[in-house]
Amino acid sequence: VLGGAAAGLALSGCGLDQTGEQLVSKARVPTRFRVPLPVPPVAREASPGVYQLTQREVRAEILPGLHTPILGYDGIFPGPTIESRRGTPVTVRIRNELSVPTVTHLHGGHTPHEHDGWPLDLVLPVGDDRVWTSHHGVTGNTAKGERDYRYPMDQRAATLWYHDHRMDFTGPAVYRGLAGFHIVRDDVEDALPLPRGDRELPLMICDRSFDVDGAFAYPALDQAMRSVPGVRDEWMEGVLGDVVLVNGAPWPVHEVDAARYRLRLLNASNARRYRVSLSPALPLVQIGSDGGLLAAPLTHDEIDIAPGERFDVVVDFSQVPVGTEVTMVNGLGAGGTADIMRFRVVRRASDDSRIPARLADVEPLVPAEGARMRTFQFHRGDVGDHKGWTINDRQFAPADVQADSPLGEVEIWRLVTDVHHPVHIHLDQFQVLRRDGKESGPYDQGWKDTVDVRPAEVVDLAVRFTDYRGSYVMHCHNLEHEDMAMMATVRTV
Ligand code: C2O
Ligand code: CU
Repeated sequence: VLGGAAAGLALSGCGLDQTGEQLVSKARVPTRFRVPLPVPPVAREASPGVYQLTQREVRAEILPGLHTPILGYDGIFPGPTIESRRGTPVTVRIRNELSVPTVTHLHGGHTPHEHDGWPLDLVLPVGDDRVWTSHHGVTGNTAKGERDYRYPMDQRAATLWYHDHRMDFTGPAVYRGLAGFHIVRDDVEDALPLPRGDRELPLMICDRSFDVDGAFAYPALDQAMRSVPGVRDEWMEGVLGDVVLVNGAPWPVHEVDAARYRLRLLNASNARRYRVSLSPALPLVQIGSDGGLLAAPLTHDEIDIAPGERFDVVVDFSQVPVGTEVTMVNGLGAGGTADIMRFRVVRRASDDSRIPARLADVEPLVPAEGARMRTFQFHRGDVGDHKGWTINDRQFAPADVQADSPLGEVEIWRLVTDVHHPVHIHLDQFQVLRRDGKESGPYDQGWKDTVDVRPAEVVDLAVRFTDYRGSYVMHCHNLEHEDMAMMATVRTV
């Protein structure tokens, strides 16, 4: 795959602040807005509270007429949507029938360490007896063939997602398909008259490039980013594709009623950020963020969404005449990446949904006078004989603890960057206090677990860990940066 990389590379020129190079597809890509939007199936329990997902390599028809080898939870991309309820624990049994080890992380999950998907806690392929270690020779708690991930689900209703998290290899694994939704529901949200049923759509947005035969194009597909000189430098900004997929389909189209819809937007891209808006313009009324409902709805004309982030929005398609085509566009893209998907408003319909003026209680996280402040510098620094992505000049080494945070205490975490880094913290959602000393931005409201820190910016967060003691990670969710070791161990004590 890499052999073709030089030939397949072109400067992206893909807009405002999306830097980096983009792999140009060699396969025939379909005309936009022809492929129907798939909605991932909801997973069924194998027994009460237990979901069983088998990771398999299969061929999927993503581009019409071509077959793309994917790694899929249950052989599909996105994987099945898991729906759980607050307070009802769930076990997800992962069986690995692939040829590589995996680690599954529930992004946004309030999860004990043993079940969080620590990057070295591998699930080895079924029947594989080799000894797998990371490049640094470290091993974790390895399971053979299968692992039960137990999630207490003691958390607010929210749009979570699960994806691969193996140390050094997260980028290629997710790119090839190892990602799915996990939606948490609760009574607070059920009591609200929000759009539901067919009018609630999870939308997983990501970019991919394709080789001529339809295979996903990814540089050095099975190599760790940080171990491949050359590749490492070429892909410093992360891997960008030229085809936008929503729920695994290229620029899909979806027929809608002239009514309100709830769209759960997830940016599952490795490195691309989007500025989402609708054309013709319709307001995006944000009702939730990474960690669930906001206190009150917030109206946007456009929403910036970085890798790992979720925005829960309501769109009212009754504001345009039946027959209107409403395109979801990306203000940061160019050519193919300027379009995301399309809605075709096909019929008048009754609608008893509403967006209440008050949605949910959001407890403000207020750091006490003299609260501990920790500073984390995300930047490109010297690592040995080359440049690499670092946090406080250190690359991820599992035993190198960068913070010991006492459970229950509100701390201020100051994130400082050189270029854009979407920073994600495991275990608990946080709140954004300030950007550059001023108030937080329009996309920072509510409980967040991923925050996009812009170039040369200083972002202060209120962080509080609860319940579970152990080692967790914080990292850049640009997955190539993560694989190049822009990750730190955080220990809760
Ligand atoms: Cu979405 Cu540490 O991951
Ligand atoms: Cu980064």
